[in-house]
Amino acid sequence: MSAEHEIENLLHEERRFAPSKEFAANAIAQPEIYQRAKADRLEFWAEQARNLHWHKPFTQTLDWSNAPFAKWFHDGELNVSYNCLDRHVEAGWGKRVALFFEGERGDTKVYTYLDLLIEVKKAANVLIKLGIQPGDRVALYMPMIPEAIIAMQAVARVGAVHSVVFGGFSADSLASRIQDAGAKLVITADGGYRKGKASLLKPAVDEALADNKCPTVENVLVVNRTNSEVAWEEGRDLWWEEQLNLADREHVAQGFNAEHPLFILYTSGTTGKPKGILHSSGGYLTQTAYTHKNVFDLHEGQDVYWCTADVGWITGHSYVVYGPLANGATQVIYEGTPDSPDWGRWWDIVQKYHVNILYTAPTAIRSFMKIGQSVTTHYDLSSIRVLGSVGEPINPEAWMWYREVIGGNKAPIVDTWWQTETGAIMVSPLPGITATKPGSAHVALPGIEIGIVNDEGVEVGPGHGGYLTIKEPWPSMLRGIWGDPERYKETYWSRFEGKYFAGDGAKFDADGDLWLLGRVDDVMNVSGHRLSTAEIESALVSHPFVAEAAVVGAKDETTGQAVVAFVILRSSHQDQIGSDQDTSKMLRDHVAKEIGPIAKPRTIFVVSELPKTRSGKIMRRLLRDVAEDRPIGDVTTLADSSVMDTITGRINAGAND
Ligand code: PRX
Repeated sequence: MSAEHEIENLLHEERRFAPSKEFAANAIAQPEIYQRAKADRLEFWAEQARNLHWHKPFTQTLDWSNAPFAKWFHDGELNVSYNCLDRHVEAGWGKRVALFFEGERGDTKVYTYLDLLIEVKKAANVLIKLGIQPGDRVALYMPMIPEAIIAMQAVARVGAVHSVVFGGFSADSLASRIQDAGAKLVITADGGYRKGKASLLKPAVDEALADNKCPTVENVLVVNRTNSEVAWEEGRDLWWEEQLNLADREHVAQGFNAEHPLFILYTSGTTGKPKGILHSSGGYLTQTAYTHKNVFDLHEGQDVYWCTADVGWITGHSYVVYGPLANGATQVIYEGTPDSPDWGRWWDIVQKYHVNILYTAPTAIRSFMKIGQSVTTHYDLSSIRVLGSVGEPINPEAWMWYREVIGGNKAPIVDTWWQTETGAIMVSPLPGITATKPGSAHVALPGIEIGIVNDEGVEVGPGHGGYLTIKEPWPSMLRGIWGDPERYKETYWSRFEGKYFAGDGAKFDADGDLWLLGRVDDVMNVSGHRLSTAEIESALVSHPFVAEAAVVGAKDETTGQAVVAFVILRSSHQDQIGSDQDTSKMLRDHVAKEIGPIAKPRTIFVVSELPKTRSGKIMRRLLRDVAEDRPIGDVTTLADSSVMDTITGRINAGAND
């Protein structure tokens, strides 16, 4: 079935699931929220911002005079960590559980808001002792353990800027991110538990810092999670636990300007170099807290919330570390993988902690679906009230499975569309209001204005595909790309005058509901993780055997998309080159070393030519046809139209089996 056909079918989706009367009556977000935001958008945001604690209140909501560089609430001052911790303790909620930590081996730890505040204060004092000043960058390379959250909160508390690098990235990727941000300190752990064993992190940090590759780094703070033997550099490396034990327990949070930078998070773009997406404080915290409360219908003090994302991704930042804590939520965090020791692990956690709100990615849902309903039959999932989905389009089949098997046919599903750049959820149903339909992300949240435009930037009507744009600035929007303001303007604001270009294709259906059609640029989405074709291509060509490489994202039943690479090998290395299978393994390992295991191509085809236009541009559309095993599309613009025959001929001859 062609993609166009599939979407046509989706647009005729007739199933609707309205919230129950009882749910609707008790929901945090009531229908008038849309009118309130429409009536005065900026006042609506100011109202949300006033739910935070301001050391110095703001008087101006938005300054857009230097667009696209936005300033929100910019004459106000606040402390992000004070908002997430101190104010809840001061309000008498110190004994409320903030975190239920579930280690992969079954070890557990509970932190109340007071416990978390004490740890964060000690960690803040350690940072100060190590010379970290407001504005300094601190890189984190951590497993999913409470110390990761404590470290991020402590960095925010002292006004420094964190750059969390996902633990699945390689030493090389870590090094380039540390260099780009000029980080002064790295916080890591000896390792974390994954799939039943200790998976080490410190060696990658050592490798990243070796040979003075990252001269800005003065210290490495290391959490002892796995008791593993790790190399130690005296004077540079310090144990987290020892430092915290020595630290003063008091720390008074000072206010910083609302536009003070909070973090950098690197994400893949269309070039080989990841972009350091920069977020600031007041607007970001305002929108993450507002969306977390309204989209998930959080009743703090009652609900147990669990977002399965790692802190290495934006979802972990906004919906584990900042939004939930700003709202005084009680949440679960889990260190390991969903299949450890078996595929019942998540459902065991839901039952154990009576999870009410679960937020996860379609890839995970499809993996469970593949295993079958049996994964959940031994567990009581009746506590679940709201289900969330994020990171990639969710197909109606997975949506229905999620609703029926996990949500007991009653919990509303919120399919949330947003990006690292948007900082917080932009498009989503509201669970007590929207009658949801499987597969649609529905409408822009109150306070957000979106539009779908054609190539000329003109808005298209229902049923017409186009580019998703955001028409007005929003509080948690990125403030730039670290060190590259031009790239920020060029990437997001130059394509359509005055509008933010998201890079996603989309369509409205006849009801005005939004359907996401995937990326329209050379960015892939594998298991909800964002990868760039250019980055993987440059990793492949950095191997001495590879002359040329082209990478495409091909449709995959479980992971949404999968990385498929086409490579031309250098004839000069012909005698060293083994079978295609050996070559494939060697190159997959090479990509894992260069970028990280998450970027490993699923399939590598060795070919003798690549399809190019007369101007030399690779025609990925045709390679996608090959990768998805369907008839090859129009080849008339190729410089040499016989190239595709050569490629398919070689593949069909089984040379790549
Ligand atoms: O293509 C969209 C897809 O993920 C991209 C953003 O990736 P990242 O910055 O890594 O953030 C992921 C977590 C917010 C988007 O450009 N995407 C995200 N959510 C959805 C989605 N596609 C369809 N439906 C969604 N709900």
